[in-house]
Amino acid sequence: MYNSKIGGLGYYVPETVVTNEELTKYMDTSDEWIQERTGIKERRYAKKHEETTTTMAARAAEKAIADAGIDKEDIDFIIFATLSPDYFFPGCGVLLQRELGITKTEIGAIDIRNQCSGFVYGLSVADQFVKTGMYKNVLLVGAEMHSMGLDFDTRGRNVTVIFGDGAGAAIIQPTEEEGKGILTTHLHSDGTCAEELAMITPGSHGGYHLGKEKFGFPDEDSPGGIYITQKMLDDHLIYPNMTGPLVFKWAVQKFPAVIKEALAKTELQASDIDMLIPHQANLRISQFVQKVMGLSDDQVYNNIQKYGNTTAASIPIALCEARDAGKIKSGDLVCLAAFGSGFTWGSALIRW
Ligand code: UT7
Repeated sequence: MYNSKIGGLGYYVPETVVTNEELTKYMDTSDEWIQERTGIKERRYAKKHEETTTTMAARAAEKAIADAGIDKEDIDFIIFATLSPDYFFPGCGVLLQRELGITKTEIGAIDIRNQCSGFVYGLSVADQFVKTGMYKNVLLVGAEMHSMGLDFDTRGRNVTVIFGDGAGAAIIQPTEEEGKGILTTHLHSDGTCAEELAMITPGSHGGYHLGKEKFGFPDEDSPGGIYITQKMLDDHLIYPNMTGPLVFKWAVQKFPAVIKEALAKTELQASDIDMLIPHQANLRISQFVQKVMGLSDDQVYNNIQKYGNTTAASIPIALCEARDAGKIKSGDLVCLAAFGSGFTWGSALIRW
């Protein structure tokens, strides 16, 4: 068995900065409300009809490949985490393979649909493949283009003001350095609140979980179903929805729990953590986790103020930014932790 490490990192955020003030043109919100409740000052939006989740991922991946000192042809597997894919199917993994111009077209590519914890889930999957010797250079990407799928009407404001676009990438490789690399990963899920942070239509559910009436499915006699109804469009059911306070309550419990689980597994203490990179869900959540874990400001990295919540992309973007700023050095203990839709949550401890 090998240990695996993050051998290269890269991120990409689109040029267009969208301030809180700008959002007030489209919905009843304010800079004060957004900053006070979330810490967000601005976010980035991709160039619509020109950029996609995949093209942003490709820009991040190119940087990670260069950072790792490898060639794109050295990549032997792609893992793509996103909740905002270019297409319903096929997944972004194969689109990224094409976008990067990898000529070894037979390499495998999977998409991970674990939303905010997608990167941590992907890291765990990559870790298993590398540990067993199956792959040597796994390209792991978290990328999101939320701006194409948000409700800019006031009824969507609790979700829309939070999310931003961006991509982060990592190259996962084997390491022979004793005690270095990914020490442990922990993954969890609980589907009992699946619809509390979700985008459920259009989908194949046909009203099964929440009732046909809510979606306007007609009683009709045909072998197939109706995929999109007029009621879904009229009621803005095609957009993401979130019961914010409920998600908040779960998040502040599960973040510390899953970090403690990783520390217990490795017989380490919170004081041993040199850098915690929490999924950037809400600055108040990160601050709560910091306090509960007894961590200092130097031990936690946040950048939600600049980018909003970029879901699967938030951890790799923050990790790369922190590393580039000299906040993560060789030998440091880095902790990644995430919580989000599903609900799903997870953590990883890495000796850098
Ligand atoms: O990354 C995935 C995981 N996601 C999370 O972890 C998100 C967790 N939840 C949260 O971050 C917070 O719940 C939110 C930031 C989404 C909302 O903050 P909150 O303090 O929980 O507000 P709330 O939903 O309880 O709403 C309070 C009030 C409501 O008005 P009334 O009913 O008190 O009159 C909302 O309608 O704030 C209103 N509101 C807004 N007002 C201005 C909701 N969104 C907005 C808005 N601008 N954007």
